[in-house]
Amino acid sequence: MLLAPSILAADLADFKSALRVCESAGADLVHVDVMDGHFVPNLTFGIPVIRDLKRATELPLDVHLMVERPEALLDQYLEAGASWLTVHWEASTHLDRMAARIRHFGAKAGVALNPATPIEVLSDVLPSLDYVVLMSVNPGFAGQPFLPYVVEKARRLKRTIEDRSLHVRISMDGGVDANNIEQVVAAGVDICVAGSAVFGAESPEAAARELRERAEGR
Ligand code: DX5
Ligand code: ZN
Repeated sequence: MLLAPSILAADLADFKSALRVCESAGADLVHVDVMDGHFVPNLTFGIPVIRDLKRATELPLDVHLMVERPEALLDQYLEAGASWLTVHWEASTHLDRMAARIRHFGAKAGVALNPATPIEVLSDVLPSLDYVVLMSVNPGFAGQPFLPYVVEKARRLKRTIEDRSLHVRISMDGGVDANNIEQVVAAGVDICVAGSAVFGAESPEAAARELRERAEGR
């Protein structure tokens, strides 16, 4: 399991400390939520922030675009340092083209699905993707409660990936915490994004370690 703390839930005036937490807690990726105030009712960070985060850590940045028309600035996100880049299916017209473009830059191509979007919409493009992000909250904010029905979507998607012998990872994003992570991983999820469960804790490092232990059933 790869752990991807979401810095949206950290102190936004102190990204350096958030990155140090990710590093010392053994995180695999740093999840960066880009919101445009249109696709979701919130605004967060843009390309200059990604560029500076990239300079400030060796950890790969997992950039989650919650924006309309993601293709408009796709190259800039990649040039700024996104090693993993996710666009939303609901916001994309030319998904195949974007996945190819992301891979052309040597990055991992991901597609996110809102909770209500069925996994079947990705059936044909699946072999062109490196990962699928299943949203377990309605995107827009950290700290929302986990939607349990998304666990069944993960199980179904895992079965499809295995039946077709594909190499596509599953990420789950939203409300993942110490109470549900074991169930999430058991459903076939490879990457767990966690915002509040890490940065909302008194000791974010200890919380990240506990998430990993629980995920591994320890
Ligand atoms: C939600 C974001 C998530 C969020 C996760 O729109 O995509 O990545 O930051 O935060 P928690 O784990 O608190 O739900
Ligand atoms: Zn996210």
